Amino acid sequence: MLPICIGIIICIVLFGSILTRSPKQNFLSSIKPYDENSGWSPPDFTEVPPDSVGDLIRYGKELISNTSFYLGSQGIISSITNGMNCQNCHIDAGTRNFANPFSAVAATYPKYRDRSGRIESIEFRVNECLQRSLNGKPIDSLSYEMRAFVAYLKWVGQGVPKDVKPKGSSTLTLAYLNTAADTAKGKIVYVNECQRCHGINGEGVLTADKKNYSYPPVWGDHSFNVSAGMYRLSGLAGFIKSSMPFDKAKEAPFLTDEEAWDVAAYISSQQRTVKIFAEDWPDISKKPVDYPFGPYADSFSQIQHKYGPFLSMKKIKKAETNLPAH
Ligand code: HEC
Ligand code: HEC
Repeated sequence: MLPICIGIIICIVLFGSILTRSPKQNFLSSIKPYDENSGWSPPDFTEVPPDSVGDLIRYGKELISNTSFYLGSQGIISSITNGMNCQNCHIDAGTRNFANPFSAVAATYPKYRDRSGRIESIEFRVNECLQRSLNGKPIDSLSYEMRAFVAYLKWVGQGVPKDVKPKGSSTLTLAYLNTAADTAKGKIVYVNECQRCHGINGEGVLTADKKNYSYPPVWGDHSFNVSAGMYRLSGLAGFIKSSMPFDKAKEAPFLTDEEAWDVAAYISSQQRTVKIFAEDWPDISKKPVDYPFGPYADSFSQIQHKYGPFLSMKKIKKAETNLPAH
């Protein structure tokens, strides 16, 4: 009698676990769900499954870490980018909080974005970074490479519930200064703190085989173009504050807010590729205060939209949106 009972119990348990183990749940089982108090942490990369789904995720991570090897000027797949890597700005393959991590991507896309005025898929968003941050060409949504990017992005963000944007999913948000960011002071910060890696002309340092950068360019023809998110001062200053100088800001920010704004202004004042997407910001009233290209819905100058002071603009913009419609 007892062996039969035990047999039946084992059968029930086994059958139950087969029923609940849909591939997706199995995939999620080792992931800590996102908890706002302890913050976002990425899943353990060693747990990527050893199958073809896992191969796609691993290739996606490779493409993000070593983009230039695959898609740079001597890329083995194609040569469609400026030689930068995605992780130059999405540090540690997009797993480091406040360094543009990919924590919110799986949970929030597809989503509506004011810049394009449309609902963007993950593929569309990746192609935006390819065309702007990597000053390159878009890739086919069905290509193996795009499927790999998307597989990795979904894998990294899988612990985050739908529509939740985890803390630290972009960069540190710096308070606006009362004054305009100062390019002259920024140059001093650059020379003292950045030049030893990014070069006297912001050109970065290539590896010996010239296929990759040890230190990526921060301006010039091989850097991101003027339509990249990084070109907006708040994004650049926030990234610099949270992540640069690379060696000194690993544990905690190193620069003051003012230094971060000023050095961002200095970098922004230097030459880089001008590639304008005429379809951006179809509703000009949605342009952020630090978007440096007109036409504008307000009367502030282009130069103020580039370097600030942003605080007064923000207050006026807010007051205007609060006016009753007439
Ligand atoms: C020059 C810096 C830079 C490079 C290089 C770069 N990106 Fe980005 N990327 C950004 C910035 C800045 C954002 C905007 C972050 C935000 O809005 O919080 C962004 C946003 C994204 C997003 C949306 C994130 C979100 O939460 O909405 C995805 C996906 C993305 N990038 C993928 C890529 C991929 C893939 C590559 C390489 C092909 C790449 N990026 C290269 C700077 C860069
Ligand atoms: C010790 C070397 C080092 C120093 C010093 C340093 N960086 Fe970086 N920086 C890097 C590396 C390496 C990356 C790319 C990170 C990666 O790929 O993991 C990077 C990336 C960047 C990026 C994003 C990618 C790009 O090329 O636009 C910006 C912007 C940047 N640094 C600005 C600065 C500024 C401003 C300073 C000075 C305050 C600075 N860095 C100091 C090493 C350094």
